[in-house]
Amino acid sequence: MLAAYAARISTDDPLSALEVGERPAPEVPTGWARVQVRAASLNHHDLWSLRGVGLGADALPMILGCDAAGLDEDGREVVVHAVIGDPDHRGDETLDPRRSLLSERFQGTFADEVVVPRRNLVPKPADLSFEQAACLPTAWLTAYRMLFTQAGIAPGATVLVQGAGGGVATALIVLGRAAGLRVWVTSRDGVKRERAVELGADAAFETGARLPERVDAVMETVGAATWTHSLRSLKQGGAVVISGATSGADPTRTELNRIFFLQLKVIGSTMGTKEELERLIQFCRTTGVRPVIDTVLPLEEAREGFAKLEHGDVVGKVVLTRP
Ligand SMILES: NC(=O)c1ccc[n+]([C@@H]2O[C@H](COP(=O)([O-])OP(=O)(O)OC[C@H]3O[C@@H](n4cnc5c(N)ncnc54)[C@H](OP(=O)(O)O)[C@@H]3O)[C@@H](O)[C@H]2O)c1
Repeated sequence: MLAAYAARISTDDPLSALEVGERPAPEVPTGWARVQVRAASLNHHDLWSLRGVGLGADALPMILGCDAAGLDEDGREVVVHAVIGDPDHRGDETLDPRRSLLSERFQGTFADEVVVPRRNLVPKPADLSFEQAACLPTAWLTAYRMLFTQAGIAPGATVLVQGAGGGVATALIVLGRAAGLRVWVTSRDGVKRERAVELGADAAFETGARLPERVDAVMETVGAATWTHSLRSLKQGGAVVISGATSGADPTRTELNRIFFLQLKVIGSTMGTKEELERLIQFCRTTGVRPVIDTVLPLEEAREGFAKLEHGDVVGKVVLTRP
């Protein structure tokens, strides 16, 4: 079957480690299901994998991709929850120490077929397209959990989203607006700032700019480049929720004095549970919001999608499709 996979690891030139070509169709273990992939979306995770972050050379070749929507063996339309946990783990699967994401230990979704534990399948409603549904399990689910499970804010609160174009950032803007939050955004790029306002942000600022007032919560995925600004933008007692560090994980200033003196909360967040994915799907149906898609490409052209993501040349998600 056709697949986009990591054939090797390259920390400096991740695209040189990517191959698009034939891979064997997967076997289906007991209790698992085969999904015919119709659409899968790219995440920064796929670039990290090519760089060897979370993917060891011993696991190669590895089909990339965490997110998918498609058809199960009975022809039902399904969305794949990407967190593969230990079947014996009880409770929040994002806290399962043995969990992995698709494409870390188990082959990923950029292929004609993917196999996953049957319990990881969620029904896809007909009013979401395969392309839209394929955006939900990683970036959108992460944004949902950051805003609604972790941040501890209520409608009417002001939230700052660092970065405007990424999959998580665009999801935060759209979900936050639909939930009645005042959403402020930063971006290095004027066009992306304009686009963020079109998507529902109340205001967009240059990266690092002083804000008109301090905010209740900051959604952080940029990391080192925006960390100090995030902490300086918070009200006393406010929360920074962090789920990524695209620009680096070691900020020059940790701002420890500010954190304790202003009683700020620093909250880590990773992916979301299957139940949160189901609620996110229902949220989309109830409010009418839909994932922001930058580009749809056939799987054969996966390399082009990876290049767009690597250059930060996106507003929203890049989706790969199969006929
Ligand atoms: N923990 C989890 O479960 C989880 C899930 C999903 C994603 N993530 C992580 O979250 C991060 C975001 O992923 P993504 O796919 O949404 O998007 P992404 O392509 O990594 O982009 C994130 C944002 O970072 C901004 N940015 C990048 N470099 C910057 C710099 N040097 N200075 C200022 N801003 C910069 C960009 O904003 P502008 O171009 O607008 O300035 C962009 O909106 C990644 O690191 C990813 O691994 C984690």
